[in-house]
Amino acid sequence: MMTIKKALAIASVFISTNTVAQTDAAINAKIDALVKKMTVEEKVAMIHASSSFTSGGVSRLGIPELVMSDGPHGVRLEHGRDWNADKITTDASTYLPTGVCLAATWNPQLGYAYGSVLGSEAAYRGKDVILGPGINIIRTPLNGRNFEYQSEDPFLVSKMVVGYIKGVQDQGVAACVKHYALNNQEILRNSIDVHLSERALREIYLPGFKAAVQEGKVLTLMGSYNKVRGQWATQNRYLMNDILKKEWGFKGAVISDWGAVHSTMQALWNGCDIEMGTDLSMLPNPNYGKFFFGDTVTTMVKNGVVPEYLLDDKVKRILYVMMKTSALDGTRKKGQFNTKAHQETARKVAEEGIVLLKNEASLLPLDKSKVKSIAVIGFNAERPQALGGGSSQIKALYEITPLQGIQSLAGNNIQITYAPGYNINRGATADQLSINKAAEAAANADVAIVVGGWTHGYDYTVWKDNAYDAEDTDKPDMRMPFGQDQLIKAVLKANPNTIVVLMGGGPIDMSEWVDQTKSIVQAWYPGMEGGNALAKVLFGQINPSGKLPMTFPKKLEDVPAHKLGQYPGDSVKVYYMDDIYVGYRYYDTYKVTPQFAFGHGLSYSSFEYSNLKVQKSGKSGTVTFTVRNTGKTAGAEVAQVYVKQEKSALQRPEKELKGFQKVFLQPGASKTVTITLNEEAFQYYNDVQSKWVSEAGAFQVLVGGASNAIRLSGKLSF
Ligand code: BGC
Repeated sequence: MMTIKKALAIASVFISTNTVAQTDAAINAKIDALVKKMTVEEKVAMIHASSSFTSGGVSRLGIPELVMSDGPHGVRLEHGRDWNADKITTDASTYLPTGVCLAATWNPQLGYAYGSVLGSEAAYRGKDVILGPGINIIRTPLNGRNFEYQSEDPFLVSKMVVGYIKGVQDQGVAACVKHYALNNQEILRNSIDVHLSERALREIYLPGFKAAVQEGKVLTLMGSYNKVRGQWATQNRYLMNDILKKEWGFKGAVISDWGAVHSTMQALWNGCDIEMGTDLSMLPNPNYGKFFFGDTVTTMVKNGVVPEYLLDDKVKRILYVMMKTSALDGTRKKGQFNTKAHQETARKVAEEGIVLLKNEASLLPLDKSKVKSIAVIGFNAERPQALGGGSSQIKALYEITPLQGIQSLAGNNIQITYAPGYNINRGATADQLSINKAAEAAANADVAIVVGGWTHGYDYTVWKDNAYDAEDTDKPDMRMPFGQDQLIKAVLKANPNTIVVLMGGGPIDMSEWVDQTKSIVQAWYPGMEGGNALAKVLFGQINPSGKLPMTFPKKLEDVPAHKLGQYPGDSVKVYYMDDIYVGYRYYDTYKVTPQFAFGHGLSYSSFEYSNLKVQKSGKSGTVTFTVRNTGKTAGAEVAQVYVKQEKSALQRPEKELKGFQKVFLQPGASKTVTITLNEEAFQYYNDVQSKWVSEAGAFQVLVGGASNAIRLSGKLSF
């Protein structure tokens, strides 16, 4: 046990570590002094797990364990030191909409607010690191973790990720951007070796991570399970040493995914700093000394097989994270838990992230004074989702389901009936009796609202049973499970005033009923306040402003990963022959019409674009235009700016997103939007020359409300 005197003496070294004036040089001097006092064993203790979610500390020197928690859309329930879920109630917390819903807001300020909630609740719960954001590119709609991720587009990811990270870290907690890199499918995630061109790596899969490091100043990063070009990602020399640490100047610590380290030497030399989750076979008492970064490392260092500076570098990085988060001096802000403000942020993200995909004959918004009865149909209408999905599970303080949200907003004057219409039971086909009951309820109501789509399991232990959006599993195809297509068709037949609300992490094949359905709403997994947010959108108290952060293709066969590339690979390797043609870059270039395009999302209002001016200054451009709300409702439009190079040495996509702004406008109001396109906006990665290139020539600047709704175009030449 340390004496109080000793503890104070140690603490005095760290006084004011979190003041702004504290430079990295001063921090590093303190770290150096501390590391000099440490034995090899103490250093080694810090670079591997000491329990399910901690890595080791050195109590003799006042260095606590580093405490981590999932992430990414809430602070996970407590799993104790040995993975046994704690039987406590104090870990029921704020459940935010999942990452894909956040991205659908196209509002980086909300990213910051979202991160602040996470950081604050993590601090309150005594966590040093929150294991999020997850930002892997959405390459195929089948990936089970798309709901945690953000987008198919690297620019949108880069903009959203920075706010999230700053929000977390401004609360004195480290964010952990994951999963670096190319963990774009869950099937075979522990064996697959991803091969791709340098250009696809640089243009599509890395920009989000680069922004996280260089703009977000993220303090930790998680290496992924898969291999990249033959070497495990977490211990991948090129990814970790060459790109992350050398090229991007990452100063923080690399944490392995749980069980992603495979060998001591490679992981030691190739940039992994903390090994987590490796051998849990001896639960509840695993031998952490047996980890790859355990006793072996002590022996190797002592025998001179590996130099001590290698170990020191890891320890210093971990201490850097601790200093930056005031983990050593106890000056971290206390944080807040389950506040009204946190719940309001959850609701706001849902309100701005829900996307109105289709709305014919103004079926939406529902008029409270006219609608007398509503049939709510579908199991997802009353299914809580927070505990599903795998490691991102949240024990929500509460979760307003769609049915509850609709009931509470509708009040007593509207009669609500509910029919599940199907059962959540993998492999189950349509149950005609349930469908008949649902159709009958629809026939007897003014309006029917079917809430269906994907789901992701009830809790961690059985999360894969009926889960489609979940870790370690991908969806079998894009067809909705449990006979929902038959259900929707039957309900539509019974009542043409049917609104389809889809939950889930991404698109489904709607081909059997999309044309007959007047209104379709994409609700994602909208968090603890999701039901309230959805009801407000349906009744027009919120004017929808979410836009799709990914293309919704008509059918799976249209998806470039499946058509041009490989998925899921041959169990050993997967070749990304779809290359840079991910998402709309493919659909636009190859002229494949999607069901709903990237960037698409309707409003109850309408917006007009005018006065485009495109100016060049040096190697950059400035784009100015006016957006006007021509409707009768206040609302927001996400104005999107795409760039298209007219002629290039290597083929380029039809267009690429390079700027956007969410503009809030009262009816009749207009706003001038200015977007700067820096040199990078015009560049591409030339893998013949192995560098980003700026080519002379003409570039079109395309402005509009979706990738397939370009309203203005201009030109500039360099
Ligand atoms: C997941 C990570 C998660 C970790 C800890 C892994 O299985 O891939 O995203 O942070 O577990 O729960």
